Amino acid sequence: VLVDGRPLRTIRWSGEAVEVIDQTRLPHELVLVRWRTLDDAAAGIERMQVRGAPLIGVAAAHGMALAVAEDPSDAAVAAATARLAATRPTAVNLTWALERVQAELADAPIEQRAGLARSLADTMADEDVATCRAIGEAGLPLLVDAAERAGRPDGAVHVMTHCNAGWLATVDRGTALAPVYAAHEAGLEVHVWVSETRPRNQGALTAWEMEQAGIAHSFVADNACGHLLAQGWVDLVLVGADRIAANGDVANKVGTYLKALAARAAGVPFVVLAPTSTVDLSCRSGADIPIERRAAEEVTEVRGPLPEGAWATVPVARAGTPAHNPAFDVTPAALVSHIVTERGAVSPDAL
Ligand code: MRU
Repeated sequence: VLVDGRPLRTIRWSGEAVEVIDQTRLPHELVLVRWRTLDDAAAGIERMQVRGAPLIGVAAAHGMALAVAEDPSDAAVAAATARLAATRPTAVNLTWALERVQAELADAPIEQRAGLARSLADTMADEDVATCRAIGEAGLPLLVDAAERAGRPDGAVHVMTHCNAGWLATVDRGTALAPVYAAHEAGLEVHVWVSETRPRNQGALTAWEMEQAGIAHSFVADNACGHLLAQGWVDLVLVGADRIAANGDVANKVGTYLKALAARAAGVPFVVLAPTSTVDLSCRSGADIPIERRAAEEVTEVRGPLPEGAWATVPVARAGTPAHNPAFDVTPAALVSHIVTERGAVSPDAL
């Protein structure tokens, strides 16, 4: 994408380091940080400097390349894989990427491993971009249909999304938002209801993306979404996924399930868009998907910049208030209208 007229991806090599956009600082500041070691990469994924299932996978591949450049031995490869695999449990793209890197390195002579790991990280980044473009093309007809069905005087389609499944969650272009970009480029009038997505407020990333792309959008509190759906202000719900089970159940950012329930009650299609690397056939249903639980402080505090620029953390609940923070939830396949991957769109009913 272009940010302030400058082409940018979420991750790239900068000499021997990996340069990423630090998403903990967005949408307030665009800051690039450099990872030089395996630990930088693992901590960066844990702290959500990078986030979003596809990007977590590609970032893990880059972390492996940093580790192998330091020590290409079998023991070091195994230790690096274990360290990165432990960072975030729900997005299966992480294990998918690590298994792919590990398998390629296993067959390679020690002296070739560093070069191989680095070029594999590049390949996976480029593949991710192509995959997201294909998801956008496959999802576009759903927006066109929704616009026709809605039959609004201006021809616009009103889409609701949750979390951030745009280019920031991938290397470029995004998953759930890829057809929104495609529709905008094709001249279709699109307006996006951007759900705030407490507690980490990834909706603010989506709003920033929409602003950069010149796409009409409204940032709304999570709790407003049921109302908007019930009132007929939404034609289509588009979300990403962190893991899709064999039966079509979908794990995605916590709050997704509530939107799926409200969409079903309102008769609005609920569409999940993700690469095939997010499908985990070893999980028979959503009950097998591990749900990440994060720190209670993410719920009881908020963090952001003060007017003079310094960042501050302020409490939203009294200090010590007990809190529970599941980062994802599972939407049953029965509530999903379509799953769109780079291979096309299917309805779970047809599976
Ligand atoms: O905790 P996050 O921000 O990594 O969660 C991200 C999501 O839940 C996204 O919707 C999902 O990874 C799909 S991203 C293309």
